[in-house]
Amino acid sequence: MSILFSEDQKTVHIRNASVSYVMEVVDGKYLVHRYFGKAIRAYRGCGEPHYFKRGYNTEHDCSIPNVSFDDFPFEYPIRGNGDFRIPAFAVTQESGVEFTELSFRSWKVLKGKPEIPKLPATFAGKAEAETLEIICEDPAAGIRVYLYYSVFEEKGIIARHQRVENTGNQIVSLQNVQSLSLELPARDYDFLSLYGTHAKEGNISRFSIHHGIQRIESVRGSSSPQHQPFFALMQPQTTENSGEVYGIHFIYSGNFLAQAEADQFGNVRAQIGIHPDTFCWRLAPGEVFDTPEAILNYSSQGLNGMSRNFHWLYQYHLMPDRFQGRNRPILLNSWEAMYYDVNLEKLEEQAELAKKLGVELFVLDDGWFRADNTSRTSMGDWKCNEKKLPGGIQKAAELIHGKGLQFGLWFEPEAICKSSELYQQHPDWALQVPGYQMTEGRHEYLLDLSRQEVREYLLSVLDFYLKDGTIDYVKWDMNRPLTDVNSMSLVREKKGEISHRYVLGLYEILERMTRKYPQVLIEGCSSGGARFDPGMLYYVAQNWASDNTDAFDRVQIQSGFSLIYPPIAIGSHVSITPNHQTGRSTSLNTRYQVSRLFNLGYELDLTKCTEEERSEIAGQIAEHKKERSWLQKAEFYRNETPNENYVSWLSTGKDKEECLVLIFQKFFNPLYAHGRFCLNGLNPECDYLETFSGKIYGGDELMEIGVSVPLIKEDFHVFTFHFVRESHREQSEKWY
Ligand code: GLA
Repeated sequence: MSILFSEDQKTVHIRNASVSYVMEVVDGKYLVHRYFGKAIRAYRGCGEPHYFKRGYNTEHDCSIPNVSFDDFPFEYPIRGNGDFRIPAFAVTQESGVEFTELSFRSWKVLKGKPEIPKLPATFAGKAEAETLEIICEDPAAGIRVYLYYSVFEEKGIIARHQRVENTGNQIVSLQNVQSLSLELPARDYDFLSLYGTHAKEGNISRFSIHHGIQRIESVRGSSSPQHQPFFALMQPQTTENSGEVYGIHFIYSGNFLAQAEADQFGNVRAQIGIHPDTFCWRLAPGEVFDTPEAILNYSSQGLNGMSRNFHWLYQYHLMPDRFQGRNRPILLNSWEAMYYDVNLEKLEEQAELAKKLGVELFVLDDGWFRADNTSRTSMGDWKCNEKKLPGGIQKAAELIHGKGLQFGLWFEPEAICKSSELYQQHPDWALQVPGYQMTEGRHEYLLDLSRQEVREYLLSVLDFYLKDGTIDYVKWDMNRPLTDVNSMSLVREKKGEISHRYVLGLYEILERMTRKYPQVLIEGCSSGGARFDPGMLYYVAQNWASDNTDAFDRVQIQSGFSLIYPPIAIGSHVSITPNHQTGRSTSLNTRYQVSRLFNLGYELDLTKCTEEERSEIAGQIAEHKKERSWLQKAEFYRNETPNENYVSWLSTGKDKEECLVLIFQKFFNPLYAHGRFCLNGLNPECDYLETFSGKIYGGDELMEIGVSVPLIKEDFHVFTFHFVRESHREQSEKWY
């Protein structure tokens, strides 16, 4: 890893073994992009731009002949200077003028990676990363912008964010401060992103980009199930295992805009950042504004290469490191078994059975504080309903601990309902627009997290429950999008800041809570995967991926999320069949296999399972306990499949000594030939024992020829292979 300036200080080359990122300062003032992609040894000015004098265009004070700003690869573009493409930065000055011009001033290298105040961000030790800080300035407007580029020692990742400082004596309004802008050369690209809806998140969309702007966004207040704050640009021929990919992901949980513009010449500009439509930040003299971090991920090894980079980054440089080495507990969640109708007897019955089957954590979901068994009441007060749970949460926790299980509790801290005592006392604490009817979502409003007193109230509620240490796990839910986005306490000039201040307020609560109770494992949730983003993952060590627990749908949902998130971050539960969301029936084995490589849990009424089913579950749990210490840290791959009737996943231990392969046959269909699946992530030089069949194969054989499966007369069938490297066999526990 290195950040090298050329002798004349005109170019800078950020590099590690995987990637290079090159910028140049033209005429001492224009900061332009030169290259991002596979690592090169050194940059000596190769590929200099040649400009053609075009009509209906602008002329510039620039030493490059015929330069057109509409074709110039600005590193951090603004609008109004002759570049008519998407701008990364826009400011309104006090005079009302909507213009600024950023000129290069200086650059320097920082060891390690700076924190971003009040925002989640990837972290690294001093020896693990280096950061380039570039200063650009508009002295007339009194604006200084610091651009940050952090390169990690390992992997093709560059983390970026910006700081804006008001160095003048006028108040300016930031209208648009994107976290990342990237220039890519004119070529054909595909645009890949994840779209969805409640209970069907993480669907892959892929299309070839056309001239003009293509964008995905959220204006729902959270990152949303509609679009993950992620997209990738890649060569049309890129597959799971080959081809170039530029992945872009945003470490943020609120409104975002992600876009790519192919200009008239085919040059491509990609950006991600806070959505400018719902953002306007007033910056007084001396104040600074920090953008959230964006991740730039380059892979020359297809989508699997991109996923491995993201998985590594999030697992070791974003998610709470105190949980890194710890096995995740196998849990039983009460939701699909009881919904709101919880009581002490049911808890006791489930916990007793759960303990016998090997479950380690019981999570009491929604219902414990509700006056009745609906979502219509009680939200905001956080008082246990003692008719359901005499003795309160304390007693319930004691009961569960008494059965030898850890205890987890569900909260939806951000919500409030009209009938709550809290609303009666503090009607102004909800987001609302005076004079207009407030909009309900799941019979709730949202608290105004931009207010300090609201944040203190929520922290006091959490303190009340967490302080005696009886709660080991919190499921933090949020079940509606933001509407009526107005704060009763913010002055007129700051109204444009509310959406972002809501997210900052949420982060402050999570930061203070996790600092005070670091041992409490938090699961993020938002009606499933509606706020599943890397911003949340900085605080919560796992996220409930979807309210849809149907195994068939989960294969697609988890495959989609696996593009960016490591399996350990994705909660996956075995539930009852027919499935509550889809009515589909799948075997208990299929449901387990679908969850097994992820964060395994159960969400079903154990008293309604047959003896046989319970003993099958006990077997699954026993098996998972043996494998999870390597599986939860494994490298995850999506294997290429011969046709769309199959999906295949593979997890391999860090030193490629052990490997689990799952192949899902969606439907029985005699039209398909039997499938052959080339495996990823093995050592081609080693031999592997397949432990079910007792056969030995070469790693190269498995990677080049692959395993095959017969056509089975069964929908949703799963084939499982388990390989152990021959040299590793002796030491490994024989558990098959
Ligand atoms: C959301 C969550 C579910 C469950 C319910 C409870 O929908 O995604 O897992 O916790 O809320 O109301």
